[in-house]
Amino acid sequence: MDSLQPTILIVDDEKHTRDGLRRLLEDEYDTYVAEDIRGAMDVLEREPIDVMITDLRLGGDDGMALIERALKLPHPPICIMMTAYGSVDTAVEAMKRGAYDFVTKPLNLDKVEMLIARAVASRKMEQENRTLRQQVDERYGLENIIGESPALHEVLDTIRQVAPSSANVLIEGESGTGKELAAHAIHNLSRRNKAKFVTVHCAALSPQLLESELFGHERGAFTGAHERRIGRFEQGNGGTIFLDEIGEIDASTQVKLLRVISEERAFERVGGNQTLRADVRLIAATNKNLEKLVAEGKFRDDLFFRLNVVHITMPPLRDRKEDIPLLVRTFLRHFCKVNEKPLLDLTADAMNTLLTYNWPGNVRELRTAIEHGVVMANGTKITLRDLPANVRQATGATLPGGITPAKAFGEKSSALDLHETEKRLIMQALATTNGNITKAAKKLGISRRTLHRKINEMKAAGESL
Ligand SMILES: Nc1ncnc2c1ncn2[C@@H]1O[C@H](COP(=O)(O)OP(=O)(O)OP(=O)(O)O)[C@@H](O)[C@H]1O
Ligand SMILES: [Mg+2]
Repeated sequence: MDSLQPTILIVDDEKHTRDGLRRLLEDEYDTYVAEDIRGAMDVLEREPIDVMITDLRLGGDDGMALIERALKLPHPPICIMMTAYGSVDTAVEAMKRGAYDFVTKPLNLDKVEMLIARAVASRKMEQENRTLRQQVDERYGLENIIGESPALHEVLDTIRQVAPSSANVLIEGESGTGKELAAHAIHNLSRRNKAKFVTVHCAALSPQLLESELFGHERGAFTGAHERRIGRFEQGNGGTIFLDEIGEIDASTQVKLLRVISEERAFERVGGNQTLRADVRLIAATNKNLEKLVAEGKFRDDLFFRLNVVHITMPPLRDRKEDIPLLVRTFLRHFCKVNEKPLLDLTADAMNTLLTYNWPGNVRELRTAIEHGVVMANGTKITLRDLPANVRQATGATLPGGITPAKAFGEKSSALDLHETEKRLIMQALATTNGNITKAAKKLGISRRTLHRKINEMKAAGESL
């Protein structure tokens, strides 16, 4: 029997019905039969049954009781009830208790076949939706915000803590630091995760279009408004609205936004006079300093306070360079797979460059750089030459203190910040090589002896490595 065929369990106390249904279905489905609750439960507990079709009367047993028990299983089948003509009330009762549909006896076999096909299709859709949800979770859950630096851990802790509440969240951070990723994670970890996550890119729209995007409009509200349009606040009701680049919204939309997120929770469609209410959680993001815009009178302070109930700052990548090795490995794995290449490594100077570059485009830029490297690489390693030109030029870049990376490991480095940078680079190198000093030294482009000495100095100074 083909195990990929959908599975059907037929339950009836009359042998000729069981046999008839089995003959009808066995070509297309993997069929099982049972004559009472006990027999049916035996099958259900042993086999993953997609659809169960059961008679209401099973000798002394009750088909309704069987359905109730089946639906409580960890992987319940879709249940169809067979009833005698004239007992439709019972069938309706069965559906109220979770049965998918019913057929009346005497059976119309075409109808049974159609009903089963429909149930199987609906089962398939359920499964597909579940997989889709899982993929979304994987994409936007916390596990996708990669990094092990204390700065990032602090962000993850905040996300975990505030997600279950309904508090509005303001996320600040430079471009490419993962603001949208964080917003998704908050929604997915919240009680609203079954409802929609709706994104509005505020900077992309003119003030008038933004207002209609957010609140919708009535037919004829303005030239070109041929149809009524439902806005994002209506669409996202019960869910989360992500307002990206909130710093860009104009004064009049700010007022309307304030009203919909105040106690009133009220708004009107553009050109409409019906007052609507929305239950949404707002997550706003900006790569500007919103507080400064408030001080300059460009952003309403009352709106700012409402949005800023919880504040998250995404740290720029250059301030958490210890996250680079892990991010690099993750992106390498991803892009090697996508490009159907074996898992590539990086040469020591390529890795060094990635650690030295200051990443104005943050994680997004790093991701693109790795993709570039994977595509360009010819051998088993990504070399300096395979990296994007602007990144590559960082080889000659200077570290804080005006010293080149090579010199940073020289004998006479005394500046404090330089000391910190050096320590960080050493820790990264050790982390990526699992503590192998020879390999770490090679990655850093210094001798094994120098690295040894540095580590001993740090240990002597009581620093944790
Ligand atoms: N910590 C991280 N771990 C893994 N991937 C990340 C991380 N941070 C950002 N990314 C990736 O970098 C890219 C940019 O992230 P995102 O769109 O969330 O940034 P942003 O802050 O919203 O940027 P912008 O201000 O330009 O809109 C995405 O591909 C995202 O998956
Ligand atoms: Mg973004």
